[in-house]
This record gives sequence, C-alpha cells and structure tokens, in this order.
Amino acid sequence: MYTLGIETSCDETACAVLKNDNQILSNVISSSLAKHQPFGGVVPEIASRHCLEAIDHVYHRALDEAGIEQKQIDLIAVTRGPGLIGSIFVGVSFAKALSFSLGTPFVGVNHIEAHLEANFIQNQKPNSFIGLIVSGGHTSILRFKRNRYELLGETIDDAIGEAYDKVAKILGLGYPGGPIIDRLAQKGNPKAFSFTKPKQDGKFDFSFSGIKTAALNLCEKREKKKFLPPLWRKVRTGVRLNPPPLSSPARGEENKFDDDIKYSNVFVRDLCASFQETVTGWIVEKTLLACQAEKMKNIVVGGGVSANSRLRSLLNQEAAIQGIKVFIPAFALTTDNAVMIARLGYSMYQKKKQSNYQMLAEPSLKIGE
Ligand code: KG4
Ligand code: ZN
Repeated sequence: MYTLGIETSCDETACAVLKNDNQILSNVISSSLAKHQPFGGVVPEIASRHCLEAIDHVYHRALDEAGIEQKQIDLIAVTRGPGLIGSIFVGVSFAKALSFSLGTPFVGVNHIEAHLEANFIQNQKPNSFIGLIVSGGHTSILRFKRNRYELLGETIDDAIGEAYDKVAKILGLGYPGGPIIDRLAQKGNPKAFSFTKPKQDGKFDFSFSGIKTAALNLCEKREKKKFLPPLWRKVRTGVRLNPPPLSSPARGEENKFDDDIKYSNVFVRDLCASFQETVTGWIVEKTLLACQAEKMKNIVVGGGVSANSRLRSLLNQEAAIQGIKVFIPAFALTTDNAVMIARLGYSMYQKKKQSNYQMLAEPSLKIGE
C-alpha cells in the first residue's frame, strides 16, 4: 500500500511516499527558512506563499523519487493542524483536490501526534507511553494509552524551540537558533550561569519565558562592560552584520556566517551551554516524573528540538537508570517532514478512519482531536 504524506503546517512544504508502514520511498522537503532569516522568526504570509508556490513541484518530485505514478497512490494523508492557517490551508486544499481527481481516500492528521509517530517507522509502537513534544511551537507531555493521546501538561508561555530561537536572537546568532546554540554549547561551561527554576500550577507544565529574560539581562549587564562580540552590539542597535543571503542555502549551511566571532567569545559559549543544560534538565526531570506518576516504561520523543544533542544524551542516561526505554526519531525525521504524516495517516486508515470534503484546516487543533 502506498501512502502519500503532505505536510504544510508552517515554513516547510513536504511530500513523502511511504510503502506500507515502514518503507520510505521518498521524503521531499522545500523549506522557506532562508526567507525568514532576516526577520529572526517565521513570517506567516511568507510561509504560506512559499507553500503555495512549492506544493505542486514537491508533490511531483516525491512521486518521481518513489518511482510510482499518481494513480498508484492508495491513501493521501495530510496535516490538518495545528499550525499556521494559511500554510495548512494549502496542504488541505491540495489533498482534497487530489483525492477528488484521483478518487483516492484521504485522511487529515494531527501534526503534533505525527511527530511522535515518526518513531514507529523503524520501531514497533508500544501499547502505552509518555510522549514528549519539543518543537518550535509546542512543548507538551502526553499520555498514550488505549490508542488515545491525552495531554498531561504543556508550556504556559514560550515553546522550547521558541526559547532557543529567542535566546539566539538576543545573542545575534541567527535563525533558527536551536542548532547554533547546540553547537556553541558543546564548547562552553554549562555551570557558568545558573537560572531560577520557574514554578507552574500544573505538575507537568513548563515555562521558558523567564530564562529568556534572564539571558537578556545577562547580555545587557555584559554589554555595559563591552565584553560582548561586535555582532551582538550591532544587532542590538539595529544594524546587522553580514545578513544571510536571501536565496535558499543548503540545509545545515544556513548559519555558517560569523562563526569565528561566535566561537571566539567565551561569554556567548558559556551562556549557550548554561541555557542548554538548564532547559534540557527541566524537560528531562518532568518527563521522568510523568513516567513515574503514570507508571510508564516508555518515553517517545518528537519535534525539532529532539535533534538536540544534550536532550538526547541526558534523557537516555536518566531514563536508563530507571529502566525506561526512550524512542527518539532518526535525525532526518526530527524536524517537520511528510513521512511522519504518512505514517500516522496509514495507521488511522488501518483503523478505518477517513476524512471527507467537509474537513477544515484547524490552526488550533488539540491533542486527541
Ligand atoms: O518541529 P519543528 O521543525 O517545527 C515546529 O513544528 O515547530 O521545530 C523547529 C524548532 C526550532 O525552534 C529550532 O530552533 C529547533 O526546532 N531545533 C533545535 C535543534 N534543531 C532544531 N533546538 C535545539 N537543538 C537543536 N539541535
Ligand atoms: Zn513540527
């Protein structure tokens, strides 16, 4: 059985072909990342416009790479939310039109749940587990039991990826900030700065806006002493050094500019390392708490921040002590992609779930909906 996955929830336009439940025949992603870099974050109008321009090309490329004809598609799986309305709308409209013209069934899937399903292409899905979503838009702890996802806790302000991106912006490091901070942190002292742990009403809730402000305060204090790199001071005064090119750089090449300045500054490296050590510690602690409270022996992680080196090592290390198994997706499937959409759509279809033309794009779709 061939499932076509379509993902357009934010700044990526992706199509993938999955054979049965575990053979990835193609995984094509067109990112508008470079177009957002000058703004230090995703601009919704630019993102949806990119989806509209790219979707047809990405779809045909996914079929070509998979070596199948469109009439061979057995199922279309598409992200129906949550995300940016304009972007989701492109994928949903494309999926409906394709379904109508080919006479192929389609199913709308929850993007957040799909991040976790990315783990089940290579692994057998456990019957029950604690799900940890760490992405640019979400930080949530879920419970999966009796074939249903339920939300146990989430961030009350910034998502973890957003916090990474904002701290990187404060330091003038470029966008997206997560991978850059991750790299710099490996060369810094994680104990250089300490941050106050926030308190939330919900046992499994998070808050990351306080640590972002603390990072800003440290930078401002430091700036007075003129110990910050020139890059940071220029960004703070509104002039950017070496703005990134507007044409799309290859993935992974986006933030190579000004690396010398970043790496040579001990303060920046130490701040990155201390920030990373602190936030990953909070996340791991709450995830393990949820496991204990729910008596779970499996943790399944998903979302862009699951690429983080420290989160991966700390979670594996702490969970092993408690005899808990950790599932983290392959690097290629950590950030937004259509393989995970196809995978979730496939299992929903096996359970006789299917969508109809009344299905809408749902920017605020909740877990379990
Ligand atoms: O899941 P994703 O691709 O998009 C959303 O659905 O939000 O996640 C993107 C986020 C960005 O905030 C990016 O900075 C973060 O994932 N990210 C990382 C790393 N790689 C990507 N954060 C920390 N460490 C990384 N290695
Ligand atoms: Zn995502």
